[in-house]
Amino acid sequence: MVKALFRKIRRIKEITSAFIPLERSGFHYKMRLQLLTLLLLLVQCGFAEETCSGLVPTKTRATTISLTDFGGVGDGRTLNTKAFEEAIYQIEHLHRPGGTLLYVPAGVWLTGAFNLTSHMTLFLDKEAVIMATQDIESWLLIDPLPSYGRGRERPGGRYMSLIHGNGLTDVIITGDNGTIDGQGDSWWNMWRQGLLSFTRPHLLELMHSTEIVISNVVFQNSPFWNIHPVYCSYVIINNVTILAPHDSPNTDGVDPDSSSNICIEDNFMSTGDDLVAVKSGWDEYGIAYGRPSSNITIRRLSGSSPFAGVAIGSETSGGIENVLVEHVTVSNTGTGIHIKTNKGRGGYIRNITVSNINLNTVRTGIKIAGDVGDHPDKNFNPNAFPVVDGLTLKDVWGDNFELPGLIRGLKNSPFTRICLSNIKFENFKQQVDPWKCEDVSGYSMEVQPLPCTELASPYGPNLCSNAI
Ligand SMILES: *[C@@H]1O[C@H](CO)[C@@H](O)[C@H](O)[C@H]1NC(C)=O
Ligand SMILES: *[C@@H]1O[C@H](CO)[C@@H](O)[C@H](O)[C@H]1NC(C)=O
Ligand SMILES: *[C@@H]1O[C@H](CO)[C@@H](O)[C@H](O)[C@H]1NC(C)=O
Ligand SMILES: *[C@@H]1O[C@H](CO)[C@@H](O)[C@H](O)[C@H]1NC(C)=O
Ligand SMILES: *[C@@H]1O[C@H](CO)[C@@H](O)[C@H](O)[C@H]1NC(C)=O
Repeated sequence: MVKALFRKIRRIKEITSAFIPLERSGFHYKMRLQLLTLLLLLVQCGFAEETCSGLVPTKTRATTISLTDFGGVGDGRTLNTKAFEEAIYQIEHLHRPGGTLLYVPAGVWLTGAFNLTSHMTLFLDKEAVIMATQDIESWLLIDPLPSYGRGRERPGGRYMSLIHGNGLTDVIITGDNGTIDGQGDSWWNMWRQGLLSFTRPHLLELMHSTEIVISNVVFQNSPFWNIHPVYCSYVIINNVTILAPHDSPNTDGVDPDSSSNICIEDNFMSTGDDLVAVKSGWDEYGIAYGRPSSNITIRRLSGSSPFAGVAIGSETSGGIENVLVEHVTVSNTGTGIHIKTNKGRGGYIRNITVSNINLNTVRTGIKIAGDVGDHPDKNFNPNAFPVVDGLTLKDVWGDNFELPGLIRGLKNSPFTRICLSNIKFENFKQQVDPWKCEDVSGYSMEVQPLPCTELASPYGPNLCSNAI
């Protein structure tokens, strides 16, 4: 830590002295140099938070077009599906070097679902709202995902997401805090009344895509999950706000699914289901497709939900590994951290690190369970047990809840190397057996209330290798 700081100071001195002419190295210049160094250091310290902004190369577009160039009308009544399609067709076919920015001006732009293309930026003005039509007849049905074998909530195909992309490279969705609004209430009501034959649409789904940045926009009232990157890599979701009522069904915030090198950073979410849920396919379909989710960072997330703050699962059949969750603050939430899978899933959940978590008013602090979630059909293999190994949860604080922890593995596949350290929970209802454990082994250090006997012993050598 100190070494790193000194390295930084040396580096800053190198940089600053490059701006000071050699012949002027007198006392005053040296003083100024010191001041400049101090200033830069302060600035650096203030903003020295870790970030994955380098995960995707930064792009600036040389060409800009506006939705109004294609007959778009932002009056909240005119349907703009054609305008979006034509603008994006032009971006695709003119193929300008550096890509093209599609500007969505102030206004309410009603539209049906449309596809994005590669090398484009969708930029929403501060006062721009892209608003989904509620006319379900106009909504296209697309094939189910191979790793799910069917729609997530109904057999067969599924409605295409409002904003959709397949096989894309280099796409940015950003703006000046403009809004993408799914007008989900009509979908939620139809779902509640059992009137839907197919799975509801996401607000944004990207399939088989890479180099994606989603930032500085508001997603609200999605019919189903909000943002669904599936079979994707190198995706940054940063500085977005995701909002849906707490009673809206299945309005997950972000669900990275069979995807790798994903970073979800500096976001606020308040939804009707898990804020972030890492997934990788469903039972026999997910096992056959075999595409894991890996190298996922979820950092500086805050919000609330009746379900989980951060979840892993329950669809985990392609495997999930190398996940880092840190600096998460949730309140008025069902479960702070929820790692969930089931028999029939197969796959694995391993090398998961969760740290610096603040929970305020939640039902369950930490839940790790092998009996969660439904099956796609009767053909799942009941002997396909998931492997859960190497989960570290450290520096977790909680205040005001019912149950501190529930850790329930599977008889045929006990969860191993579950490591808890520096966890402090206060004001909880469950005073008898505050940690409920079954079929689990691991270690703990400085955990309050004291964990279950299965996890009571302190670290064994190298057994919690991802703990420190
Ligand atoms: C949009 O993409 C979907 C799925 O890839 C495809 O079925 C559909 O035909 C596309 N729509 C248009 C207008 O290109
Ligand atoms: C986050 O988004 C807001 C509004 O869209 C913008 O003003 C702000 O500069 C963004 N912050 C960062 C760090 O990009
Ligand atoms: C962006 O809009 C959301 C939703 O209205 C709001 O909560 C948030 O504070 C806004 N962000 C900025 C930087 O204006
Ligand atoms: C994940 O990160 C590790 C370590 O940085 C790297 O070796 C591996 O190739 C990455 N996996 C993927 C799928 O990119
Ligand atoms: C475990 O995951 C972390 C990210 O949390 C990663 O940095 C590390 O390389 C992974 N370890 C192994 C052995 O893959």
